[in-house]
Amino acid sequence: MFIAKEIQTAAYLFASILFILSLSGLSSQESAKRGVLFGIVGMIVAILATVMGEGVEGQIFIVVAIAIASVIGILVARKVEMTGMPQLVAILHSFVGLAAVLVGIGSYLDPATQKLVGAAHSIHLVEVFVGIFIGAITFTGSIIAWGELDGKVPSKPWSFAGLQLMNLILFIACVGCGVLFCQAEGTTGLLYLWIMIAIASFIGIVLVMAIGGGDMPVVVSMLNSYSGWAAAAAGFMLSNDLLIVTGALVGSSGAILSMHMCHAMNRSFFAVIFASASLGPKGERKAMEGEVTALNHEEVAGLLKEAKSVVIVPGYGMAVAKAQFPVYDLVQTLRKSGKNVRFAIHPVAGRLPGHMNVLLAEANVPYDIVLEMDEINEDMPSTDVVMVIGANDVVNPSAQDDPACSIYGMPVIEAWKAEKVIIMKRSMSAGYSGEDNPLFYKPNSEMLYGDAKTSVEKILSYLK
Ligand code: TAP
Repeated sequence: MFIAKEIQTAAYLFASILFILSLSGLSSQESAKRGVLFGIVGMIVAILATVMGEGVEGQIFIVVAIAIASVIGILVARKVEMTGMPQLVAILHSFVGLAAVLVGIGSYLDPATQKLVGAAHSIHLVEVFVGIFIGAITFTGSIIAWGELDGKVPSKPWSFAGLQLMNLILFIACVGCGVLFCQAEGTTGLLYLWIMIAIASFIGIVLVMAIGGGDMPVVVSMLNSYSGWAAAAAGFMLSNDLLIVTGALVGSSGAILSMHMCHAMNRSFFAVIFASASLGPKGERKAMEGEVTALNHEEVAGLLKEAKSVVIVPGYGMAVAKAQFPVYDLVQTLRKSGKNVRFAIHPVAGRLPGHMNVLLAEANVPYDIVLEMDEINEDMPSTDVVMVIGANDVVNPSAQDDPACSIYGMPVIEAWKAEKVIIMKRSMSAGYSGEDNPLFYKPNSEMLYGDAKTSVEKILSYLK
């Protein structure tokens, strides 16, 4: 069954509008669910309009493939833990990259495109080459990002002095392949495509491996952007307007998000994407000075009873421990006894943009006590107790005073300026960036070892 071209165009327009509404819905927590719904409906309209378009052959196979993929997608999405979301997102980006590579090769070998002549032929070849180039980088880069986020690839930056020069030479080699590819007769250019795919895949690997764990938020959003451009390139190859629009939406919103991330981390966008951020002069890191002292749960409860103002800094460990529910219980208990309790949210805390906001919203924490880093930092000197719950990099003072630290320059929550800091984690291990944290050694800091959820529950039992 086919639909007329005009109906398909109208359906594409409708789907594009739904995608734009979806993106705008995702900009705030209140409208996020509605945004997701718009996205789902838009995608259903887009798929139906494409599959039912004139000239599409083998619809039954497409429907079966979509059904199988949907079941796999639903099962995976239902199973994945909140803390595993970044890995899922990264691996999904790699699929988009791989799809762009496959679509490009298919489009190049398609007998219909072989008949193109003149400018139309040249433009098509450039579309194929650029689309495959972006797709291959996205594919391997996303796999490495998945590995880094999943702890399978070390998050410490891997780089050497000639890295950028090597990348430049590889890029020039790809341009050379592109020139030969465009001049090749028939399908003989396939050889240059394979060579470029190998080089671009290698560039994808080294680009991401050279970026340290601390800068991973930018990498994830950047790969998100690349996957959008890869999809847009596939849209050009397939002459599919909707794919071009959707790809451009993902590509540009991902690029804007990357810039916001860079701003939040005080990084230059280009320094991160060309991996030069990790190559600056390092030297030796400052030695950790001071003594680490620890309290037990009862002592922490005692400190909280005496405090008038409390700030909670949540981090990735709170997500791992799923401690957001007891944490909110604790907040309510403290607020009932007249204390001023607020949350301080770092823009890259956790492993996803807005990760902490999502967790706190899940536990029904009211938005008015959830403050951004910039809003709360100035209140730190007048705060009695800061509770750092499973956070590490986002409260690391070395980001301000140790140029040898890989997260140097990243704005952080200045927990150490409070009267007392309680750091809740299981051990003395480093944060995601792999950097040790001198906060633990400060005279006003106390460690509270253990799983965040268990610790909060124990503190609560002493308070109630
Ligand atoms: P991290 O620096 O990753 O530190 C989390 C801490 O939580 C760890 O030191 C760990 O120490 C502790 N922890 C783990 N499981 C725990 C549990 N069950 N109970 C209590 N503590 C637990 O976290 P952060 O401060 O939120 O910083 C985020 C880092 O991730 C930054 O470097 C950021 O750049 C990077 N990153 C962020 C994103 C986005 S978009 N947000 C994406 C990728 C990477 P123990 O093992 O000692 O318990």
